[in-house]
Amino acid sequence: MKSPLLSIWATAVFLTFVSQPVQSAGGKQCVCELKNAQRPFPMDKLDNIGTMASQCNRSITPNQMEEMDVLTLGLQRRLEQLKDSMAVLEKEDDGELYGAVSLRIIELELAEVMELMAKLKRKTQSNQQLSQATSNQVQNMMKEMKNLEEFDHMQVMKKHWENQRIKRDLAVCQQGLQVTPQPPTPARGHCPQGQLVSVSGPRTYSLTQYGTSYSYGAWGKDPNPPPGKENMHWLVALTSSNVFANYVRQYSSLSTIVVGVGHTDTVIAPSNPTTNTIQGPNVVMYGDALYYGCYNTPSICRFNMTARTVTNVALPQNSGFNNKFPFGHLEAAYIYSDLDFATDESGVWVIYTSPENFGNIIISKVLTDSPPALEKTWKTSLHKRTATNTFMACGVLYATRYVDKETEEIFYSFDTVTGEERYDLKIQIKKMLTNVQSLNYNPQERMLYMYSDAYILSYDVIFR
Ligand SMILES: *[C@@H]1O[C@H](CO)[C@@H](O)[C@H](O)[C@H]1NC(C)=O
Ligand SMILES: *[C@@H]1O[C@H](CO)[C@@H](O)[C@H](O)[C@H]1NC(C)=O
Repeated sequence: MKSPLLSIWATAVFLTFVSQPVQSAGGKQCVCELKNAQRPFPMDKLDNIGTMASQCNRSITPNQMEEMDVLTLGLQRRLEQLKDSMAVLEKEDDGELYGAVSLRIIELELAEVMELMAKLKRKTQSNQQLSQATSNQVQNMMKEMKNLEEFDHMQVMKKHWENQRIKRDLAVCQQGLQVTPQPPTPARGHCPQGQLVSVSGPRTYSLTQYGTSYSYGAWGKDPNPPPGKENMHWLVALTSSNVFANYVRQYSSLSTIVVGVGHTDTVIAPSNPTTNTIQGPNVVMYGDALYYGCYNTPSICRFNMTARTVTNVALPQNSGFNNKFPFGHLEAAYIYSDLDFATDESGVWVIYTSPENFGNIIISKVLTDSPPALEKTWKTSLHKRTATNTFMACGVLYATRYVDKETEEIFYSFDTVTGEERYDLKIQIKKMLTNVQSLNYNPQERMLYMYSDAYILSYDVIFR
């Protein structure tokens, strides 16, 4: 049943193309006008079949079959007992009292056997009726599916000719304008461990030590830890107006941060907010330094955790900060998320945007020196406001979007090696709370760390 269903779904939508050269400000262009003049595919019929199939499925359950087995087994036992009792009676048959007692027992056993047999017969009949009805239903469904397939087939043929005509028109149109051919699509850059295929978990899920007070923040594990801090986990909660933080909290291990016991706080700035405080939730720790958006300044700050000193580098001119280009979805903007820091196998990245790139995401590699510096930059076509967050793995940017309260989806990727952009990823992340304030990848653990409405969650990233 599965494959015809799928093939019909896939071909259910058709579009009509009309190609023609048009004059525009930048010269002549080939344009495809889309007209959906399609008689709709009878989706309701297909849906009906789906409903019928699942009803059919529900009406015959393994439980019913088990019931038959139990009845049959019961009957078998009783018959064995009856045989034993008969043997006893034969041995004892002296025409006296013992024989009469045994006879009475056999009578009772026989009655029980008869009852069991009657039950079995009723059950068999009802199962027969059920299987007859089901087989009728299945036949009806098959007929209906065949009709639908024929309908689809005709449409395919019609549209096939039309597509050929459009292709010819388009080719003629393009020749007329002498368009230079597109270069071939470059090969996709990839991780040595394969491609990111799924995200499993949450593996851990807990409220931070702060309780529900701070819904903005970030946490994770330094992928390039200094000696003695290999298991340390860090947590930054935006403790002032969901915008600012002035210290980093560290825990000795994953279990202590999850349980919320024992911690050390390292203060960046004595008051909150002031120069050098953290602004925005999407911070990362790399090589014993914290990278974050500097307070009220279009700059990247780097805080040396040991020396407790801050160095910084300015973002390119006009880059968004101070809540100008936050992440978000239809129902919410994640305030002050202008800068998103990310770690991967190669180090630290910063994700941001500017009016010059129309609010679309810009990626820059961050040189992890003191002071930090910006290396190469890539411009994407993904509008920042439509993504809820991003992270990097093996030089590929992944962006997530809000699907519903329980689900976030990695839907977009940008490969900084090849420049390839994809909008067709469908990798789902199961959430426990609605919003995602930060998300970051640790290449050492191959894990994602999510801060979600005051909760901290971790996930395993699966490559294949
Ligand atoms: C039929 O039921 C089984 C077991 O309950 C389930 O695994 C399967 O997905 C169902 N199939 C359909 C088409 O509903
Ligand atoms: C932090 O500062 C100390 C002292 O200046 C230095 O030895 C260390 O390398 C620095 N660490 C980082 C990660 O910059």
